[in-house]
Amino acid sequence: MNAEHSDALVIFGFSGDLASKKIFPALYAMAKSGALTVPVVGVASSKWRDDDWQRHVRRSVEQSGPIDDVPAFDRLLSLIDYVSGDYNDAQTFTRLKQALGNAKRPAHYLAIPPSLFAAVIQSLGAAGLADNARVIVEKPFGRDLASARALNAVAQSVFPESSIFRIDHFLGKDAIMNILYFRFANSFLEPIWNRHHVASVQITMAEDFGIGGRGGFYESAGCLRDVVENHLFQIVALLAMEPPAYQGFDAVHVAKTSVLRAMKPLSPDELVRGQYLGYRQEKNVAPDSDVETYCALRLQIDSWRWGGVPWYLRAGKCLAGKALEVLVQLHPPPQQLFDDAGPGTQGLNQRANHLRFSLQPSSTIALAARVKQPGQGFVGTLRELCLHEAENLDEQTYERLLGNAMAGDDALFTSQDAVEAAWAVVEPVLSDHHAALPYERGSWGPKAADALIAADGGWHDPTLEIGCGR
Ligand code: BG6
Repeated sequence: MNAEHSDALVIFGFSGDLASKKIFPALYAMAKSGALTVPVVGVASSKWRDDDWQRHVRRSVEQSGPIDDVPAFDRLLSLIDYVSGDYNDAQTFTRLKQALGNAKRPAHYLAIPPSLFAAVIQSLGAAGLADNARVIVEKPFGRDLASARALNAVAQSVFPESSIFRIDHFLGKDAIMNILYFRFANSFLEPIWNRHHVASVQITMAEDFGIGGRGGFYESAGCLRDVVENHLFQIVALLAMEPPAYQGFDAVHVAKTSVLRAMKPLSPDELVRGQYLGYRQEKNVAPDSDVETYCALRLQIDSWRWGGVPWYLRAGKCLAGKALEVLVQLHPPPQQLFDDAGPGTQGLNQRANHLRFSLQPSSTIALAARVKQPGQGFVGTLRELCLHEAENLDEQTYERLLGNAMAGDDALFTSQDAVEAAWAVVEPVLSDHHAALPYERGSWGPKAADALIAADGGWHDPTLEIGCGR
């Protein structure tokens, strides 16, 4: 880790959606805590005067909460300078250089459409703005294996690997960081964390809203590229990885990449794609679009630990609720001693032990066990023991990621190897897949996704009350 702190932050995409929703609130929080002291230069094509961009920053911050520390907000504004220009015009980078003044180690954050990543990185190099600098690249990093490799080659021709920070913002979420901590700060889990005890694992990422104004982006991405091959695969990697061989994130990166490499490339029959009704009428969406807003898949990790254990992943827009949940289903008892507990029983309340990580909206870890209901017969129910229940601190995610990248700490970023390994898993189904099936808004997606997991007890509804954490 190169520990010299960046002495300026450049934000490409200053007028964009991401900056507005996540970056400005994060910068304001950093100004409040004293973590942001370096100049910030915003770059975008909007021809804004000072009062225009200041109003934009204020509005964005207010959308995530009231400005409760006016001196900190004023400090933030005083740190910002704005450069307007086309990303394909060398003059923009000349003006950026002037705006950076004496800064010697800027961090360039690319919150821009992925199609512009390579051009901006090359222009940074050509303008002499890459020396001693860092580049922070938003997802998606490429749109398939070949383009990810090509982008990596461009990035590495301008910046050393240790100065490239590939964002997967899920890695900066507190509840997801806790998966790593919970697994390796305890020893009771390890003996059961394998194919002998785990029957299946399912992960649901449900959003109850549509694509918003992102039709153009979504048409070029779809759900698999947008959230599955990155966000959900990173969660799988944290759950499935071997214990890191030594303390330090180098070892975590190696262990996670090994899981991604052990994932079997998907085949079309392991993937169900869906599209919510009304998607084709969204702005910038083709009237005959086959892009998926939902996908469900069955993944296999071909490793000693996980061989034969199915991993079911589903994600979608306009679903019946908003939740992010992992359910690790343990095998039932081998013998049917009670009618409602044993190898032959079905249904949620008849499930055997599970471990459940609710990652959003709450942050909960729960262990489920069957207990006898009071009364004469041997009839039980599934109860959850709540191991961890915490306030969700999602708003701190970007604060953490930007702060870490500027400090040169790559613990919560993805490596080139991991990015490429993830693309290799989805590569076969990026173009060879079944058609996207329509589903009602507010439903749980196409029925065909239920068939995918039927043999393993069906999907768990993450909005259902089981025991704790609700
Ligand atoms: C982004 C996707 O990476 O993650 C969005 O592009 C998705 O489509 C978002 O909604 C979810 O992240 P969060 O942090 O808002 O749950």
